[in-house]
Amino acid sequence: NRCGAPLASPGSPAERAGMAGHESPMSAKDLSAFLATAQTASGPAPAALQGLIAQVAEVCASIATLVAGGALSGALGSRGTENVQGEVQKELDVISNDLLLNGLHGSPNLSGMASEEMDDIHPTAEQGPYLLLFDPLDGSSNIDVNVSIGTIFSVLPAKGGAPKTEHFLQPGSAQVAAGYVVYGPQTTLVLTLGAGVFVFTLDPASKAWLQVAENVRIAADTKEFAINMSNMRHWAQPVRAYIDDCLAGKEGPRGKDFNMRWVASMVADVHRIVSRGGVFMYPWDKREPGKPGKLRLMYEGNPMSFVVEQAGGRSIAGDAGRMLDVQPTQLHQRVAVILGSANEVTAIEGYA
Ligand code: AHG
Ligand code: MN
Ligand code: MN
Repeated sequence: NRCGAPLASPGSPAERAGMAGHESPMSAKDLSAFLATAQTASGPAPAALQGLIAQVAEVCASIATLVAGGALSGALGSRGTENVQGEVQKELDVISNDLLLNGLHGSPNLSGMASEEMDDIHPTAEQGPYLLLFDPLDGSSNIDVNVSIGTIFSVLPAKGGAPKTEHFLQPGSAQVAAGYVVYGPQTTLVLTLGAGVFVFTLDPASKAWLQVAENVRIAADTKEFAINMSNMRHWAQPVRAYIDDCLAGKEGPRGKDFNMRWVASMVADVHRIVSRGGVFMYPWDKREPGKPGKLRLMYEGNPMSFVVEQAGGRSIAGDAGRMLDVQPTQLHQRVAVILGSANEVTAIEGYA
């Protein structure tokens, strides 16, 4: 069942809009009902994991309300401060980070948190079984222009005792859950606990997360790529060669015409790929030759790769192999990202 093929429609919103008859006859399951019987890679989801996901989703619902209010919520504009990566923080970067910190600090399910917007790890009040990493607001450049943005999260097992930075430095293959929320035309949660990918839409009326798709699969083949083409002159030769071949279309070596999309919010670009296939690339480039790429491994690359693999896609760290096998050495380390439709990622690997 792809995202576009609804499992169930909430029904009532359509009715409220006077569109009764458009809704599916099936009734939608809410997130807590889903979590109660959810499976992980190794059996039923533990209660602590269920509780943690419910708490994260609850905070994201409150971020969605702020995002929807825009200027009315004081959510636009720049804070003027810089994060550890030297990026200027937007109001919403900081507010979203604070909401996640405050909403989860007392969680019995957590030992600690780490975020794009915090230099160091944040030990939580309890010593619960999990660590949470997040990009509180992805797509910062799109906040002020009313284009889709999101939150990305990753759940790792805690190592016991007071959390240390080293405890967070686990490869993506150790993740027990990951997902993202897109704040777009719809507010959508895409979640994996290691046994498939499930999609929930925030019902604007009831504020409940209602399941709209299950066991989502990414098409293995595609004719659509996503890359910031303005960096073309800075790319390595294999990336250039791959995109050149896509641009050559039907007459070129790929034998088909390609389309291009670049939202510039990873959540939105990845969500399009989860929904209808495609590849997303943020490769190494010459602008910052000492860094593997722009995006961050722990709270962008790894959680998105877990979702993509669980949906049957592939994700590689440029020429460094499978993303989920990369051994992290730093909390904020960068990574090259190539992910999406399995056969297309494999085709790109062939250019190395
Ligand atoms: P963030 O807003 O969390 O810093 O992430 C922005 C990232 C990612 O979402 C997006 O794919 C990429 O930056 C866009 O980069 P360009 O500005 O090069 O398009
Ligand atoms: Mn981001
Ligand atoms: Mn961010």
